Amino acid sequence: MTDMDKAAEIIRSDNLVAFPTETVYGLGADATNDLAVAKIYAAKGRPSFNPLITHVENVEQAFDLAVFSGDALTLAAQFWPGPLTLVLPRKAGCTVSLLASAGLPSIALRVPRHPLALELIRAVGRPIVAPSANASGRISPTTAQHVRDGLGEKVDLILDGGPCAVGLESTIVSFLDGTPRLLRAGGLARAEIEEALGRKLEGATAGPLHAPGQLESHYAPSAPLRLNASEWRAGEAQLGFGRLDAPLNLSRKGDVVEAAANLFAMLHQLDASAPKVIAVAAIPMQGLGEAINDRLRRAAAPRE
Ligand code: TXA
Ligand code: MG
Repeated sequence: MTDMDKAAEIIRSDNLVAFPTETVYGLGADATNDLAVAKIYAAKGRPSFNPLITHVENVEQAFDLAVFSGDALTLAAQFWPGPLTLVLPRKAGCTVSLLASAGLPSIALRVPRHPLALELIRAVGRPIVAPSANASGRISPTTAQHVRDGLGEKVDLILDGGPCAVGLESTIVSFLDGTPRLLRAGGLARAEIEEALGRKLEGATAGPLHAPGQLESHYAPSAPLRLNASEWRAGEAQLGFGRLDAPLNLSRKGDVVEAAANLFAMLHQLDASAPKVIAVAAIPMQGLGEAINDRLRRAAAPRE
Protein backbone atom coordinates (compact mmCIF):
# COMPACT_ATOMS: atom_id res chain seq x y z
CA MET A 1 0.00 0.00 0.00
CA THR A 2 1.38 3.44 -0.88
CA ASP A 3 1.50 6.27 1.66
CA MET A 4 -1.22 7.97 -0.37
CA ASP A 5 -3.52 4.92 -0.08
CA LYS A 6 -2.83 4.81 3.65
CA ALA A 7 -3.49 8.54 4.00
CA ALA A 8 -6.83 8.29 2.22
CA GLU A 9 -7.85 5.34 4.37
CA ILE A 10 -6.87 7.14 7.59
CA ILE A 11 -8.96 10.17 6.63
CA ARG A 12 -11.91 8.01 5.61
CA SER A 13 -11.79 6.37 9.04
CA ASP A 14 -12.08 9.80 10.72
CA ASN A 15 -8.43 10.24 11.69
CA LEU A 16 -5.79 12.87 10.89
CA VAL A 17 -3.14 13.16 8.15
CA ALA A 18 -0.67 16.02 7.73
CA PHE A 19 -0.13 16.88 4.07
CA PRO A 20 1.78 19.47 2.07
CA THR A 21 0.12 22.36 0.28
CA GLU A 22 1.94 25.06 -1.66
CA THR A 23 1.45 27.46 1.31
CA VAL A 24 2.12 25.46 4.50
CA TYR A 25 1.51 21.90 5.71
CA GLY A 26 -2.10 21.24 6.68
CA LEU A 27 -3.55 18.93 9.32
CA GLY A 28 -6.29 17.21 7.35
CA ALA A 29 -9.52 15.46 8.25
CA ASP A 30 -12.77 14.48 6.52
CA ALA A 31 -14.61 17.80 6.34
CA THR A 32 -17.99 16.07 6.42
CA ASN A 33 -17.42 14.27 9.73
CA ASP A 34 -17.95 16.14 13.03
CA LEU A 35 -15.81 13.77 15.08
CA ALA A 36 -12.88 13.94 12.66
CA VAL A 37 -13.07 17.75 12.78
CA ALA A 38 -13.17 17.70 16.59
CA LYS A 39 -9.96 15.65 16.55
CA ILE A 40 -8.24 18.51 14.71
CA TYR A 41 -9.09 20.98 17.47
CA ALA A 42 -7.91 18.45 20.05
CA ALA A 43 -4.58 17.86 18.25
CA LYS A 44 -3.91 21.59 17.82
CA GLY A 45 -4.87 22.38 21.39
CA ARG A 46 -6.94 25.37 20.29
CA PRO A 47 -8.50 27.23 23.22
CA SER A 48 -11.53 28.03 21.08
CA PHE A 49 -13.06 26.74 17.83
CA ASN A 50 -11.65 28.94 15.08
CA PRO A 51 -13.37 28.06 11.84
CA LEU A 52 -11.27 25.97 9.44
CA ILE A 53 -10.56 26.05 5.71
CA THR A 54 -12.18 23.35 3.57
CA HIS A 55 -9.94 22.13 0.75
CA VAL A 56 -11.60 20.96 -2.45
CA GLU A 57 -10.40 19.46 -5.70
CA ASN A 58 -11.81 22.03 -8.10
CA VAL A 59 -14.36 24.80 -8.58
CA GLU A 60 -17.16 22.31 -9.34
CA GLN A 61 -16.75 20.66 -5.91
CA ALA A 62 -16.78 24.14 -4.34
CA PHE A 63 -20.12 24.92 -6.03
CA ASP A 64 -21.78 22.14 -4.04
CA LEU A 65 -20.75 23.75 -0.75
CA ALA A 66 -21.05 27.54 -1.10
CA VAL A 67 -22.89 30.34 -2.88
CA PHE A 68 -20.57 32.17 -5.29
CA SER A 69 -21.08 35.80 -6.27
CA GLY A 70 -19.78 36.97 -9.66
CA ASP A 71 -16.67 38.48 -8.03
CA ALA A 72 -15.98 35.31 -6.07
CA LEU A 73 -16.23 33.33 -9.28
CA THR A 74 -13.77 35.67 -11.01
CA LEU A 75 -11.18 35.07 -8.28
CA ALA A 76 -11.75 31.31 -8.21
CA ALA A 77 -11.38 31.08 -11.99
CA GLN A 78 -8.20 33.12 -12.00
CA PHE A 79 -6.36 31.95 -8.88
CA TRP A 80 -7.44 28.36 -8.13
CA PRO A 81 -5.58 26.13 -7.63
CA GLY A 82 -3.51 28.53 -5.53
CA PRO A 83 -2.90 30.37 -2.24
CA LEU A 84 -6.32 32.05 -2.03
CA THR A 85 -9.16 31.19 0.36
CA LEU A 86 -12.69 32.47 -0.28
CA VAL A 87 -15.16 32.92 2.58
CA LEU A 88 -18.67 32.52 1.20
CA PRO A 89 -22.20 31.83 2.42
CA ARG A 90 -22.76 28.11 3.03
CA LYS A 91 -25.08 26.57 0.49
CA ALA A 92 -28.25 24.84 1.71
CA GLY A 93 -27.42 21.15 2.00
CA CYS A 94 -23.68 21.84 2.39
CA THR A 95 -22.21 18.58 3.69
CA VAL A 96 -19.31 20.16 5.58
CA SER A 97 -19.41 19.81 9.37
CA LEU A 98 -20.89 22.80 11.20
CA LEU A 99 -18.04 22.46 13.65
CA ALA A 100 -15.59 23.24 10.82
CA SER A 101 -17.47 26.53 10.29
CA ALA A 102 -17.55 27.01 14.09
CA GLY A 103 -21.31 27.34 13.76
CA LEU A 104 -21.09 30.29 11.32
CA PRO A 105 -23.38 30.39 8.26
CA SER A 106 -20.27 30.85 6.08
CA ILE A 107 -17.55 28.53 4.79
CA ALA A 108 -13.90 29.10 3.87
CA LEU A 109 -12.85 27.26 0.67
CA ARG A 110 -9.73 26.79 -1.33
CA VAL A 111 -8.25 24.59 -4.05
CA PRO A 112 -4.59 23.99 -3.14
CA ARG A 113 -1.94 23.85 -5.84
CA HIS A 114 0.29 21.07 -4.45
CA PRO A 115 -0.02 17.78 -6.42
CA LEU A 116 -0.04 15.66 -3.23
CA ALA A 117 -2.81 17.75 -1.70
CA LEU A 118 -4.94 17.40 -4.83
CA GLU A 119 -4.22 13.69 -5.06
CA LEU A 120 -5.28 13.22 -1.43
CA ILE A 121 -8.58 15.06 -1.89
CA ARG A 122 -9.26 12.98 -4.99
CA ALA A 123 -8.34 9.70 -3.26
CA VAL A 124 -10.60 10.45 -0.29
CA GLY A 125 -13.41 11.59 -2.55
CA ARG A 126 -14.59 14.18 -0.01
CA PRO A 127 -13.56 17.72 0.90
CA ILE A 128 -10.74 17.90 3.44
CA VAL A 129 -10.69 20.40 6.24
CA ALA A 130 -7.21 21.51 7.29
CA PRO A 131 -5.73 24.20 9.49
CA SER A 132 -1.98 24.73 9.42
CA ALA A 133 -0.38 21.64 11.00
CA ASN A 134 1.08 23.37 14.05
CA ALA A 135 0.04 23.50 17.68
CA SER A 136 -2.12 26.53 18.45
CA GLY A 137 -0.04 29.70 18.78
CA ARG A 138 3.03 28.23 17.06
CA ILE A 139 4.56 29.01 13.68
CA SER A 140 3.06 27.32 10.62
CA PRO A 141 5.09 24.33 9.36
CA THR A 142 6.66 24.44 5.91
CA THR A 143 8.40 21.04 6.01
CA ALA A 144 7.35 17.56 7.13
CA GLN A 145 9.99 17.77 9.86
CA HIS A 146 8.34 20.90 11.31
CA VAL A 147 5.11 18.93 11.60
CA ARG A 148 6.90 15.99 13.23
CA ASP A 149 8.60 18.32 15.73
CA GLY A 150 5.42 20.21 16.55
CA LEU A 151 2.66 17.63 16.56
CA GLY A 152 4.48 14.27 16.66
CA GLU A 153 2.21 11.51 17.90
CA LYS A 154 -0.93 13.57 17.40
CA VAL A 155 -0.81 12.97 13.62
CA ASP A 156 -1.47 9.48 12.29
CA LEU A 157 0.57 10.02 9.11
CA ILE A 158 2.61 12.79 7.50
CA LEU A 159 2.79 12.93 3.71
CA ASP A 160 6.19 14.39 2.87
CA GLY A 161 6.14 16.65 -0.17
CA GLY A 162 9.32 18.56 0.58
CA PRO A 163 9.42 22.23 1.56
CA CYS A 164 6.38 24.37 0.70
CA ALA A 165 6.91 26.63 -2.31
CA VAL A 166 4.97 29.62 -0.96
CA GLY A 167 5.69 29.19 2.74
CA LEU A 168 3.02 31.66 3.84
CA GLU A 169 -0.62 30.85 4.56
CA SER A 170 -3.23 31.62 1.91
CA THR A 171 -4.73 35.07 1.47
CA ILE A 172 -8.34 35.12 2.74
CA VAL A 173 -11.04 37.18 1.02
CA SER A 174 -14.66 37.21 2.15
CA PHE A 175 -17.81 37.74 0.09
CA LEU A 176 -20.52 37.88 2.72
CA ASP A 177 -22.04 41.35 2.37
CA GLY A 178 -21.64 42.25 -1.30
CA THR A 179 -18.16 43.69 -0.72
CA PRO A 180 -14.91 41.76 -1.17
CA ARG A 181 -12.93 42.07 2.06
CA LEU A 182 -9.37 41.06 2.90
CA LEU A 183 -9.52 38.98 6.10
CA ARG A 184 -5.90 37.81 6.08
CA ALA A 185 -2.92 38.85 3.98
CA GLY A 186 -1.08 35.81 2.68
CA GLY A 187 0.57 34.03 -0.22
CA LEU A 188 -1.37 35.86 -2.95
CA ALA A 189 -0.69 39.61 -3.10
CA ARG A 190 -3.54 42.06 -2.53
CA ALA A 191 -2.62 43.94 -5.73
CA GLU A 192 -3.17 40.84 -7.89
CA ILE A 193 -6.62 40.33 -6.39
CA GLU A 194 -7.56 43.99 -6.78
CA GLU A 195 -6.44 43.93 -10.39
CA ALA A 196 -8.54 40.86 -11.13
CA LEU A 197 -11.60 42.45 -9.50
CA GLY A 198 -11.03 45.93 -10.86
CA ARG A 199 -11.64 47.37 -7.39
CA LYS A 200 -10.01 47.83 -4.01
CA LEU A 201 -10.42 45.27 -1.26
CA GLU A 202 -12.07 46.61 1.88
CA GLY A 203 -11.01 45.57 5.37
CA ALA A 204 -12.97 43.24 7.62
CA THR A 205 -15.91 44.68 9.51
CA ALA A 206 -16.05 44.40 13.28
CA GLY A 207 -18.72 41.89 14.20
CA PRO A 208 -19.59 38.24 14.06
CA LEU A 209 -19.50 38.12 10.24
CA HIS A 210 -15.74 38.52 9.97
CA ALA A 211 -14.36 38.15 13.46
CA PRO A 212 -15.44 34.71 14.53
CA GLY A 213 -14.36 33.99 18.04
CA GLN A 214 -13.69 37.61 18.89
CA LEU A 215 -17.21 38.68 19.50
CA GLU A 216 -19.12 37.75 22.61
CA SER A 217 -22.39 36.70 21.00
CA HIS A 218 -20.88 35.04 17.95
CA TYR A 219 -22.89 31.93 17.40
CA ALA A 220 -26.10 32.22 19.29
CA PRO A 221 -29.20 30.05 19.05
CA SER A 222 -32.41 32.10 19.17
CA ALA A 223 -33.33 30.59 22.54
CA PRO A 224 -31.48 31.82 25.64
CA LEU A 225 -29.08 29.33 27.21
CA ARG A 226 -28.79 28.22 30.82
CA LEU A 227 -25.24 26.88 31.24
CA ASN A 228 -23.60 24.53 33.74
CA ALA A 229 -26.89 22.83 34.52
CA SER A 230 -26.67 20.21 37.27
CA GLU A 231 -30.35 19.29 37.03
CA TRP A 232 -33.21 19.75 34.54
CA ARG A 233 -36.01 22.22 35.15
CA ALA A 234 -39.54 22.01 33.77
CA GLY A 235 -40.12 23.50 30.30
CA GLU A 236 -36.48 23.66 29.22
CA ALA A 237 -34.97 22.00 26.17
CA GLN A 238 -32.13 19.83 27.46
CA LEU A 239 -28.62 19.24 26.20
CA GLY A 240 -27.00 16.54 28.30
CA PHE A 241 -23.41 15.60 28.99
CA GLY A 242 -22.17 12.46 30.73
CA ARG A 243 -24.49 11.34 33.50
CA LEU A 244 -26.79 14.35 33.29
CA ASP A 245 -28.63 12.59 30.47
CA ALA A 246 -31.28 13.79 28.00
CA PRO A 247 -32.51 12.60 24.59
CA LEU A 248 -29.75 14.78 23.12
CA ASN A 249 -26.49 14.17 24.98
CA LEU A 250 -23.18 15.71 23.83
CA SER A 251 -21.38 12.60 25.06
CA ARG A 252 -22.95 9.94 27.28
CA LYS A 253 -19.50 8.61 28.14
CA GLY A 254 -18.32 12.10 29.14
CA ASP A 255 -15.79 12.43 26.29
CA VAL A 256 -15.06 16.09 25.44
CA VAL A 257 -13.84 15.29 21.88
CA GLU A 258 -17.15 13.58 21.14
CA ALA A 259 -18.96 16.49 22.81
CA ALA A 260 -17.18 19.02 20.58
CA ALA A 261 -18.17 16.99 17.53
CA ASN A 262 -21.84 17.15 18.54
CA LEU A 263 -22.00 20.70 19.91
CA PHE A 264 -23.15 22.85 16.99
CA ALA A 265 -25.33 20.21 15.35
CA MET A 266 -27.17 19.51 18.61
CA LEU A 267 -27.62 23.21 19.47
CA HIS A 268 -29.14 23.70 16.01
CA GLN A 269 -31.40 20.72 16.50
CA LEU A 270 -32.68 21.96 19.87
CA ASP A 271 -33.07 25.52 18.63
CA ALA A 272 -35.21 24.32 15.72
CA SER A 273 -38.05 23.44 18.11
CA ALA A 274 -38.09 27.10 19.33
CA PRO A 275 -37.81 26.35 23.06
CA LYS A 276 -38.06 29.06 25.75
CA VAL A 277 -34.68 28.08 27.21
CA ILE A 278 -31.97 25.57 26.31
CA ALA A 279 -30.32 24.13 29.41
CA VAL A 280 -26.83 22.71 28.89
CA ALA A 281 -25.20 20.28 31.30
CA ALA A 282 -21.90 21.33 32.88
CA ILE A 283 -18.88 20.42 30.73
CA PRO A 284 -15.51 19.91 32.46
CA MET A 285 -12.72 22.36 31.53
CA GLN A 286 -10.30 19.60 30.48
CA GLY A 287 -9.00 19.34 26.89
CA LEU A 288 -11.59 20.53 24.35
CA GLY A 289 -13.87 21.31 27.31
CA GLU A 290 -12.26 24.76 27.44
CA ALA A 291 -13.21 25.51 23.82
CA ILE A 292 -16.71 24.08 24.31
CA ASN A 293 -17.25 26.29 27.38
CA ASP A 294 -15.85 29.29 25.50
CA ARG A 295 -18.38 28.80 22.69
CA LEU A 296 -21.25 28.18 25.09
CA ARG A 297 -20.38 31.30 27.05
CA ARG A 298 -20.43 33.35 23.81
CA ALA A 299 -23.69 31.76 22.74
CA ALA A 300 -25.21 32.64 26.13
CA ALA A 301 -23.92 36.24 26.14
CA PRO A 302 -26.49 39.06 26.04
CA ARG A 303 -27.62 39.98 22.50
CA GLU A 304 -28.03 43.40 20.98
O1 TXA B 1 -2.64 28.33 3.54
C1 TXA B 1 -3.56 28.05 4.31
O2 TXA B 1 -4.61 28.70 4.33
C2 TXA B 1 -3.35 26.85 5.24
C3 TXA B 1 -3.28 25.60 4.38
C4 TXA B 1 -3.19 24.33 5.19
O3 TXA B 1 -4.39 25.56 3.51
N1 TXA B 1 -4.39 26.78 6.22
C5 TXA B 1 -4.52 27.66 7.24
O4 TXA B 1 -5.54 27.37 8.13
O5 TXA B 1 -3.80 28.63 7.40
P1 TXA B 1 -5.71 28.04 9.57
O6 TXA B 1 -6.78 27.25 10.28
O7 TXA B 1 -4.41 28.10 10.25
O8 TXA B 1 -6.30 29.46 9.27
C6 TXA B 1 -7.62 29.55 8.80
C7 TXA B 1 -8.14 30.96 8.87
C8 TXA B 1 -8.42 31.40 10.29
O9 TXA B 1 -7.83 32.65 10.54
C9 TXA B 1 -9.93 31.48 10.34
O10 TXA B 1 -10.39 32.43 11.25
C10 TXA B 1 -10.28 31.81 8.89
O11 TXA B 1 -9.36 31.04 8.16
N2 TXA B 1 -11.64 31.34 8.56
C11 TXA B 1 -12.04 30.08 8.31
N3 TXA B 1 -13.37 30.02 8.09
C12 TXA B 1 -13.82 31.29 8.21
C13 TXA B 1 -15.12 31.89 8.11
N4 TXA B 1 -16.20 31.16 7.85
N5 TXA B 1 -15.21 33.22 8.30
C14 TXA B 1 -14.10 33.96 8.56
N6 TXA B 1 -12.85 33.46 8.68
C15 TXA B 1 -12.72 32.13 8.51
MG1 MG C 1 -2.74 28.63 11.35
